[in-house]
Amino acid sequence: MNKANIYNCSVVEFLKIHSRSGNITPIENLDNIPFDIKRVYYLYDVPGGAERGGHAHKDLEQCIIAISGSFDIIIDDGENKKVVNLNRPNYGLHVILGIWRELLNFSSGAICLVLASKKYDEDDYIREYDGFKTYKLKE
Ligand code: TYD
Repeated sequence: MNKANIYNCSVVEFLKIHSRSGNITPIENLDNIPFDIKRVYYLYDVPGGAERGGHAHKDLEQCIIAISGSFDIIIDDGENKKVVNLNRPNYGLHVILGIWRELLNFSSGAICLVLASKKYDEDDYIREYDGFKTYKLKE
C-alpha cells in the first residue's frame, strides 16, 4: 500500500447559502464529506498560544473546520509538511489516516469543528513523533 501523504489531504469547500440575515452551510453525510461521519466534536475556549493535536491516527479520517475564527493546521506525513490556515466556516481540511497534525495560532474565540470517521479510540492514536516516524517506515 502507498504511504499516506499530505498531498492526499485537501481543502473541501462546502455550500454556503447566503442571505442578508446570515449564511447556512449544510454538510450531509457521504455527500460532500468523503467518509461516513461517526463522531462530531469541537474545540473551543482555546487559550491564546495553546497548541492542540500533536498526534496521528492509524485508521481515522477527519474533516477539520474553523466554524468560528481561525487557526493553522500543520500536516506532516513524516517526509513532507505543510501549513493550512482555516478561517472560513464553509471550508474544511480533509485529513486522511496516517498523518501527523498540529493545530496552533488559534484566534480569540475560535471554534474548531471536527467530523470523524470513527468513534473515539485511544488505541488508534500515535502520540509520540518518534513512534510516528517508525510507523511510517512500516506503512
Ligand atoms: P485529543 O484528541 O488528544 O485532543 P487534541 O487533538 O484536540 O489536542 O484529546 C484530548 C483528550 O480528550 C484525551 O484525553 C482524549 C479525550 N477525547 C475523548 O474522550 N473523546 C474524543 O472524541 C476526543 C477527540 C478526545
